[in-house]
Amino acid sequence: MQVRTYVFDAYGTLFDVHSAVRKHSDSLGPDGPRLSEIWRTKQLEYSWIRTLMGSYADFWRLTEEALDYALSATPGVDPSCRDKLLEAYWTLDCYPEVPEALARLREKDARIAILSNGSPDMLSAAVDSAGLGGFFDAVLSVEAVKTFKTVPQVYRMVTDTFDVAPAEVSFQSSNRWDIAGAHKFGFHTVWINRAGLPNEYQNYGPSREIRDLTNL
Ligand code: 2OP
Repeated sequence: MQVRTYVFDAYGTLFDVHSAVRKHSDSLGPDGPRLSEIWRTKQLEYSWIRTLMGSYADFWRLTEEALDYALSATPGVDPSCRDKLLEAYWTLDCYPEVPEALARLREKDARIAILSNGSPDMLSAAVDSAGLGGFFDAVLSVEAVKTFKTVPQVYRMVTDTFDVAPAEVSFQSSNRWDIAGAHKFGFHTVWINRAGLPNEYQNYGPSREIRDLTNL
């Protein structure tokens, strides 16, 4: 089957989640990077645990709760940074190769979308501030189905929106667990292994592994 629909995870794949902390690294001190790691790890953990509990909440709320935990776990960081870190999360940097990679897909007449746990307002702010607005045929948020990845219903939003079979979709994510969910659903999967991590979730993809989106 021919792949013409390219779907991207947002956080960690198109947008650098650590850029919020980096923007304020001077005032955060040496524990800034650790804070950022804990913030991201907890944000994801809360999405999985809430899914298992059947207790959905907006991804923004999870992002706030995760930052509160991260600040408690890093007493070396001044907690008054909270508001400016949250504000920076609305305008995360995109990775440098992203605009060109999307432009190349556009030239090939591909259909391009985002599929993300992020809430619609978080996603539209990130897309606009990174200047990526013109590239997407759809920005799909889990808010429409009120559950998080890796529930199959989330990936089904793509096949419903574009009226395609899963095998006609190429799904790009830097999150290996997200690749596993997308593979199980039937997508062609490309793991953007930005951090050079070891493979996991054997038998659940990826179809392809690359370091960034330059050679997609
Ligand atoms: C996403 O954008 C959480 O990175 C994940 O869906």
